[in-house]
This record gives sequence, C-alpha cells and structure tokens, in this order.
Amino acid sequence: MDMKIALVKGDGIGPDIVDEAVKVLNKVCDKYNHKIEYKEVLAGGAAIDKFNNPLPDETLETCKECDSVILGAVGGPKWDNVASELRPEKALLGLRSGLNLFCNLRPAIMYPQLKDACPLKDEIIGDGLDIMVVRELTGGIYFGKRGRDENSAYDTLSYRKDEIERIVKKAFEIASLRGKKLTSVDKANILNSSQLWRDIVNDMSSSYSDIEVNHLYVDNAAMQLVRNPRQFDTIVTTNMFGDILSDEASQITGSIGMLPSASLGSGTLGMYEPIHGSAPDIANQDIANPIATILSVAMMLRYSFNLLEEAERIEKAVYDVLDQGYRTSDIYSEGTKKVGTKEMGRLICDAI
Ligand code: IPM
Ligand code: MG
Repeated sequence: MDMKIALVKGDGIGPDIVDEAVKVLNKVCDKYNHKIEYKEVLAGGAAIDKFNNPLPDETLETCKECDSVILGAVGGPKWDNVASELRPEKALLGLRSGLNLFCNLRPAIMYPQLKDACPLKDEIIGDGLDIMVVRELTGGIYFGKRGRDENSAYDTLSYRKDEIERIVKKAFEIASLRGKKLTSVDKANILNSSQLWRDIVNDMSSSYSDIEVNHLYVDNAAMQLVRNPRQFDTIVTTNMFGDILSDEASQITGSIGMLPSASLGSGTLGMYEPIHGSAPDIANQDIANPIATILSVAMMLRYSFNLLEEAERIEKAVYDVLDQGYRTSDIYSEGTKKVGTKEMGRLICDAI
C-alpha cells in the first residue's frame, strides 16, 4: 500500500516523540512492503515563530491532501503571552475543524506491567482496565461564540442535532465492537445542550438493542472513574467533558505518556497524536516517553488504512518491550531498566 502522511512534529517534546514513531512506522512498513511518503509541515509555536501564524494555510492544505496526519504536541510557555487568536492551541483546533475530525477516540488501557504506576488500590483496579473515551471534537464550547471586554467574558456551549447524532452513532458502533456497554456523560440536570444530547442517545439506542446504555452526570462520572473504573467500557461525551475525563482516565492507567488518540471524520483521513502535551521542560533531552505516539501510529494503521495486522504488530512490540522491563523515566519503578526516548524507539523497532 502507498501512504502519504503529514508530519506535524510541533513543539517541546513533539519532535522527540514523532521521530521515534516514524522509525517504528518505517520498520513495520518495511516488513509488510508498504511505501510511505512523508510531508513535514509546521503548526503551533514553531509556525508562530516562522510565519506568525499557528496554522498556516499551507499546513492545512497539505494535511487535507494526505491520507493521514501524525501530530506530536503543540504549545509551551514561550507563547503564553501571544494574542489569544495566535496561541499554538489554535493550530490544534484549526486542524480538527479544518479536517472535520469530529470523533476523538481515547483508549485508556492499563498495561499489567505498569500496575504499580496506577494510583488506585489493587482491589479497585482488579486485573486491568480498558476504557474507550469517545470525545466529540469539533463542536461545543471549544468552538462557540466567545467574547471579552474589560468587565466580562463569555463562551458559548451549543450543539446541533446532527453534530450529536454523528458522534453518538460512532460511539454505538465502537461499543458494539467492544464490551457492548455505552455510558453517555452529560450535565443534563443543568444544560439544555445536555438534555438534547441525552434525548438523542435514548432515541438512537433503540437501533442498538444489544448495547446496554446508561447516562451519568459529568461530576458523578469523574467520581466513578476513580471509585469503580471497571464499570466503564465505552464512554461518549462532549468536547470539554471528554477533554477532562480522558486526562483523568489516563492517570488511572499509570501515565499520560502511554495513551494514544485518533481523531476521525466521516472518511478515512485521521489525525493521530498522543493525548499528552508538549512538556517543554523535558524537550530535547532524550527522556520523553514516545510510546503514546507510537501507539497512535498503530491506531492510524488500524483506522485510516485498515491494516490490522500491522497495527497489532506495533502494539505487541510495545507490550513485549514493557515485559522485558524497559521503562522511560515517567513509568520507571525500582527493579526496571530506565531508557531514554531513542532507546525506547529502538527497542520497539527491534521487537517488531
Ligand atoms: C487535548 C488538549 C487540547 C484540548 C488543548 C491543547 C487545546 O488538552 O488534546 O486534550 O483541550 O483539546
Ligand atoms: Mg486535554
């Protein structure tokens, strides 16, 4: 297969981790005879520095022409004082909406090898955790009308019916391939948009009679995630609630450095990135954990290219390397072997 992939390395540790992910992707594509053409483009702080624009048109256009996008991370304190429409984060939001990637999949899987890194008690975590957070990504309060003057500021949370329907449909489809249990998270005791959300979930549930559906208010969901995370299989929620709950879920698995994500639309084009940020304090020191980005590449092979065997090959390699006791410093514990970013990438390539 021929693949054309846009690389947005971004800021901070972005280049460190994307470089390792590319090595791993090259390795697996070598094995299976796939050809890759990379197009490297700038976004975020790096693009502000060069073009005074966090998301240059050329970047978005190149991403649109590619089959998928691999993104490292954007942002950092260097750009904290730029005007709000110039912030590096605008690049992320612009890519998500510009590519129409409304469905964000954030799997929170606990690796048995990292059980010690989980802050919850053994009896709560049992023999593991496998939760899929399905986050709406191109609507809600992130994209609503906003404004500010000297004495006040506002943001708007609104959802159209079709926006809710398409993400809820994806969530039902995903739940049906997993544990057949879907939890919809909202704040329907307060928010109109959540009441509409809940009605739509209930309406659609009649078409998916084999899936058990329940609803939780977001405050309760946040509590349940640490009280009894094993009750969850697939969670579907709005842009902002999904942002918050996916960070929480990541911590339960041990480290945010392990969790990949896929942002999908209605076609096969997707954007794949770790859920963590750009960690500027550890950039360029060969200590960042590249595994979240490497696992994002596995998601890319699965969701954009339907290359399931190749995807599993990467996931298995990550598993094996953890099994052999290798750890980057964020997941290091006594008795394991500490390695840097590059060494972790090399080990995973070797395991492939
Ligand atoms: C994420 C990040 C972004 C978000 C930020 C950097 C804009 O936290 O991808 O979860 O809020 O969506
Ligand atoms: Mg976030």
